[in-house]
This record gives sequence, C-alpha cells and structure tokens, in this order.
Amino acid sequence: MQKYSTFDLVPGMILAEDVLNFDRQTILSKGTELTDVLISRIELNGILSVFIEDAENEERPEDYGPAPSEPRRDVPPPPPGSNAEYAPAHPSYSERIRASQEFKDFKNKFDTATEDFKFKLSEIVEQNAALDPSELLRQPLELIEHSGSGSNTFDMIHNMRDYDDLTFAHSMNVALLNYVSASWLNWSEEDREMAMLCGMLHDVGKLKVNHSILTKPGKLDNVEYKHIQKHPIYGYKILQDKGLDEHIKNAALMHHERYDGSGYPLQLSGESIDKFARLTAISDVYEAMTAARCYRGPMCPFRVIEVFEEEGFEKYDAEMVLTFLSNVGATYVRNACILSDGREGEIIMLNKEKLSRPVVQCGYDYVDLMRHPDLKIEKLL
Ligand SMILES: [Fe+2]
Ligand SMILES: [Fe+2]
Repeated sequence: MQKYSTFDLVPGMILAEDVLNFDRQTILSKGTELTDVLISRIELNGILSVFIEDAENEERPEDYGPAPSEPRRDVPPPPPGSNAEYAPAHPSYSERIRASQEFKDFKNKFDTATEDFKFKLSEIVEQNAALDPSELLRQPLELIEHSGSGSNTFDMIHNMRDYDDLTFAHSMNVALLNYVSASWLNWSEEDREMAMLCGMLHDVGKLKVNHSILTKPGKLDNVEYKHIQKHPIYGYKILQDKGLDEHIKNAALMHHERYDGSGYPLQLSGESIDKFARLTAISDVYEAMTAARCYRGPMCPFRVIEVFEEEGFEKYDAEMVLTFLSNVGATYVRNACILSDGREGEIIMLNKEKLSRPVVQCGYDYVDLMRHPDLKIEKLL
C-alpha cells in the first residue's frame, strides 16, 4: 500500500483504504477501482491524498501512466474485453482547438493577463496597495471580447487546462467562467463584470495560507485542513477595507458554502449565500474538476456533467447549475464523438433530464444514451 497525492491518481488504481470526507463519512470504499469520475469525486471532496494498493508485479507508480514520450490521450485506455478502438488518425476535439491560431492568440493574451494579475494581487496582499476594480477587469474583458460568443470563450477556457498554478490562472479561469455563466443566465453587463471580479478575487485568501501546506503532497493533519479552510475568511479580511462592493467580499467569504448547508466556513445555506458566491461556487468546482491530469488532457465535458449529476444538484443553486450545465452540453451539440463501443457519431440532442446522456446519431441509428446506460461518450472529435 502506498500513499498517492490526488493529482497523481489514474483510472485502474485500487483503493487500499476507505476514503472519508471531512465529516468522516465514507465516500468510497476500500477495494474500489478508480475511474475518471471517481477521481474527480475525490478531488471534489477536497481530499488531497489516498492510499492505493500496490500494483501486481511490483509495478512502479509511473507504470500506471503513459511514458513521457507517448502522446496524451483524452481518455483512459478501453477496459479489457471492450471492443472500443481509438482512431489515432483523428485529432481529438481538444487537440484541434489547441492547434488553432485562435487558441494560440487566446493563450498568449491569457498568459499576459495572468502575469499582470499576479503582480497586482501580490501588491494588494503584501503592500496593502489600493485595488482598482476597473483596472483589474480590463484584461479579462479584452479576452472575452476577443473570443466572441459565450460558447466559444467557454471552449477556450476548457482547453486552457494544463496549468498547475494554484491560484492565479485558476482565478482567471474562474473569472472568465463566471462572466460566461452570468451571460447564460441573462444577467446585466454590470452584473457580468461583477461576477468576473468575484472570480478573480475569490481565492485571494490563499495567498495568506502557508505555501508549504498548499503544496504538501501527503495527507494533511486536522490543523492543516483547518488552516486551508480559513482561506475564505482571510480573503474577506484582505478585501474588507478596500472600498469594494459587498458582493466581491462575499464571494471570497462564501464560495465554499453550499446551497444545502454542507459547505464552510459558516455553513450558510440557500439564498443567505450571496448570489455571486453561488455562481462562483459552480465555476470554481468546474474549474477544479477539469484540471488536466498526468494521464490525459482536459476531461470530456459530458463526464464533468455526469460528476455534477452524481454529486447531486442540491449543493448548488438549481437555476444556476442547470443553466450552466445545459449550456456546457449545448456547446457540443453537432459535435462528432466516439462512443465507448467504438462507434463514431454526432451529438444531436441533449436530454433535459440527464444532460450527461445526449442522443447521438451513428449513421442511420439514433442512440439515446439515456436508454443505454452501458454506453457513454468516450471522446469528442
Ligand atoms: Fe477557494
Ligand atoms: Fe477556487
């Protein structure tokens, strides 16, 4: 048995011990074989490391993942016995996006904006510098303007996932997701920009958390967990005297609160959580879940939707989470994909009751994934 950081988990590993959440409830049992969705669930619960059975033949941990020279895949290999085939001739959807000039331009602008943001934020935290919201918003707004429609921006953000940056690129992504999400909810331009600012500053309190704890690969003890869980309060204190709108301070304080009262630090519930914090919570979780891992590129969006569905929508504002996920799904309608049985098809319609299981047309066949629980979308083309 060996301890693994959550970031290094790959599908196929077997849990050597039960995985418990902060309330000491078992979320996964010993002996469970990890899948992409289960790894995301571990991550979603904020668990930083787990115990894994030693592999047969005393394989080294690196043996789980592809060798560094191998090309990345968007999906883990098909299970033994499955007849799924991957056609290397097709670049994946992510690969095509990443190869486009549009994406390269977006990434350059994103990198510059993130560097500047890092500088400004450090000044605010370390030297108590003044905070000018309109100056902070300038670059992310340019990014949005440059990339056209909401779905297009979303697509770019989804593919920006190879950062291991703990706070800055993450915050920038959450800011852009918040803006797109607020547009999908038909919020006013003023509120969209407010949502963007809330995203940029939501984790500012992490800059006050001891860096060695934030990056510690092993299991955190209770004191360390408590320290990390204080970052919303630290954030609120940093922003408190800067003459900012209440929503910005509230998003920093309340983005880990959950609609059903299961969050922290104040266990607020329902509408007592600021609406901008409720929106930020969804973008924050989405962003954390889709971060690239050592064995794959960005997670298939339908897989992400599935994790949200499995976790239950009661943790989030229902209107916000449904609008967000249905728009994420709609971004990929008319997109080609490969099903887990190897068939190639096109996503033609979303199922409102189960957004992770759309209808896929394969030749003359219409495959309603709602009626085929054994099948799933393996990869977008
Ligand atoms: Fe946070
Ligand atoms: Fe965050």
